[in-house]
Amino acid sequence: MDDAGVDGRRRDRPVADDDAIEPPTGFRERAVASDAGVYDAFATEGPDAWRRAADLLDWERPYERVLDDGDPPFYEWFPDGRLNAAVNCVDRHLDERRNQLAIRWFGKRGERRSYTYLDLHREVNALAAGLRELGVEEDDVVTLYLPMVPELPVAMLACARIGAPHNVVFAGLSAEALATRLDAADSSYLITCDGYYRREDAFNQKSKADNARLRADGDLAATVVVDRLGDALDVSLGADEHAYESLVDAHDGETVEPVARDATDLLFVMYTSGTTGRPKGVEHATGGYLAHVAWTTRNVLDVRPSDTYWCAADIGWITGHSYGVYGPLSVGTTTVLYEGSPDYPDRDRVWDLIERNAVSVFYTSPTAIRSFMKWGAEYPDRHDLSSIRLLGTVGESITPKAWRWYRDHVGGGEAPIVDTWWQTETGAIALATLPGITPMKPGRVGPPLPGIDARVVDEDGEPVDPGEPGYLTIGSPWPGMLRGLREGDERYRREYWVEAEDGWRYRTGDGATVDEDGYVTILGRVDDVINVRAQRFNTAELESAIVGVEGVTEAAVVGDDDGDVVAYVTTRSDVEPGEPLRTAIGEELAREVGDLARADRIVFTPDLPKTRSGKIMRRLLEDIARGEEFGDVSALRNPEVVGEIESAVRSE
Ligand code: WTA
Repeated sequence: MDDAGVDGRRRDRPVADDDAIEPPTGFRERAVASDAGVYDAFATEGPDAWRRAADLLDWERPYERVLDDGDPPFYEWFPDGRLNAAVNCVDRHLDERRNQLAIRWFGKRGERRSYTYLDLHREVNALAAGLRELGVEEDDVVTLYLPMVPELPVAMLACARIGAPHNVVFAGLSAEALATRLDAADSSYLITCDGYYRREDAFNQKSKADNARLRADGDLAATVVVDRLGDALDVSLGADEHAYESLVDAHDGETVEPVARDATDLLFVMYTSGTTGRPKGVEHATGGYLAHVAWTTRNVLDVRPSDTYWCAADIGWITGHSYGVYGPLSVGTTTVLYEGSPDYPDRDRVWDLIERNAVSVFYTSPTAIRSFMKWGAEYPDRHDLSSIRLLGTVGESITPKAWRWYRDHVGGGEAPIVDTWWQTETGAIALATLPGITPMKPGRVGPPLPGIDARVVDEDGEPVDPGEPGYLTIGSPWPGMLRGLREGDERYRREYWVEAEDGWRYRTGDGATVDEDGYVTILGRVDDVINVRAQRFNTAELESAIVGVEGVTEAAVVGDDDGDVVAYVTTRSDVEPGEPLRTAIGEELAREVGDLARADRIVFTPDLPKTRSGKIMRRLLEDIARGEEFGDVSALRNPEVVGEIESAVRSE
């Protein structure tokens, strides 16, 4: 690795683009990362440069080696070091900030709960002792199926304390999805809750968990149930089911000796949609992951202990893991946890929370920003958001228009925005500007971070010219990278790696361009994964659920410009496409995949466009959904269908 730039350019030189926006002087002067020499330092030091990240952590046994790359693509970061993630997120802060708030939680019904670092320490220890009592041992995988309640981060940290990897399943996913993930992770412990509120209604989560249990192949040894709803929902507990509160009460005041883990030991597994219908179990190692997350929380998100920081992502996904829990707590800040939706009870909710808590760093997705824009600037404008110092975005590309809106109406026209590119697999931010150093370009994520060897290449692995589309790849390992897949080494190698002449290259699955200054623009996925409401779904997963509906013959799913899901559906000739069928499709998607997997638009069409070999032309369907020009369709087996589909889309 001779340079951190995609195109061999140094990042400490001014960019050529006149439209680039320099970091504001006031911000630059106080930024965590303010020395442009960091780009050069990483470029010259190679992997050793990542000591800066690892040295942000407390090690039980200090590491001597930074990277073992003897058996690519199986890389080991800080392989001889030992540490405990919960100690790094909780215990080590007790001396300096035991009474500082670690978590400020806001519930859907206006409830509030706060945890100081001392409170967090007490509850994490009590739960860790409780889990031990239930039989959880080091390396047992514990599945967590909880909404955004404080018990979720507490449970993650309790698992980490005893060396039991966690497997968080997003609470909105279906019983079927939970069953698959319990089996795939070989997990026999579950922590869930009675239910939670969806707007006004109490929703029964426990019954979903019970269904999953019936569907799963393996047996559960023990289930812990958090009481979220109190009297609003009574659930009865079976013989091997335990109330969270009683478990924690029974062990209150106990301390559990943290288990020192090898840096390469598993911290957690997180299932994500891959290129096949079955989700992949992405495994993250303890040391490299935590080091990379801590370093980026400080240097990219500019977070320090004195901040009140809010990452709005759900902990059920990787963003919530890395920047809602491990990042903020490892650096010792106060993190906001919000259970509700941004427009309930009203559209002032988010701005009201920022104002009341003096949030200084706010991190969300372009999907959310698009909603805020749709609702109108009057909502943020009537709040005092002057506490905001930095804004972040993640999950999809943000348009320059949305970028400017975000900056003007949330960032007071002043705050820098970091557009951060990363993935479940990268563990932590890989491409972004350093907000006190690197100029911003609205709509472009920016250059790779120091130490990230990102390259945009063509089919043959050759770098593309500026402005030309190519594949985003990473040419050398980085600390936050997945250590493997639950499905085994072979699948890991096949899914992600290609061996090139100059070494192994990680394939991100994203298309991208790079400009003259080395700034990357993400074009979207090049595989069968679509990003919906900032979450990843596999098209086959959605399509197979739709085809499961009686009367449906074929389905093709694409994403449109708004990040919405458009489903093209063909039906049997004796079936009337109409409202009842739409409802049935919606219900089946929710049941098989989960709440977030709804189809925003369902277009009934007599046929789907196919190539001569019978492959559905998704790209064409995407262009139609987006109202874009598309090329010559004469090579299709059924070109006549295109006109019909277009008119069906228009008449919706
Ligand atoms: C997309 C979320 C454009 C990308 C952290 C990636 C982005 C996928 C950005 C990973 C961004 C993430 N600009 N696209 N700033 N950040 N993506 O695993 O397609 O849920 O491959 O991780 O989201 O989604 P995942």
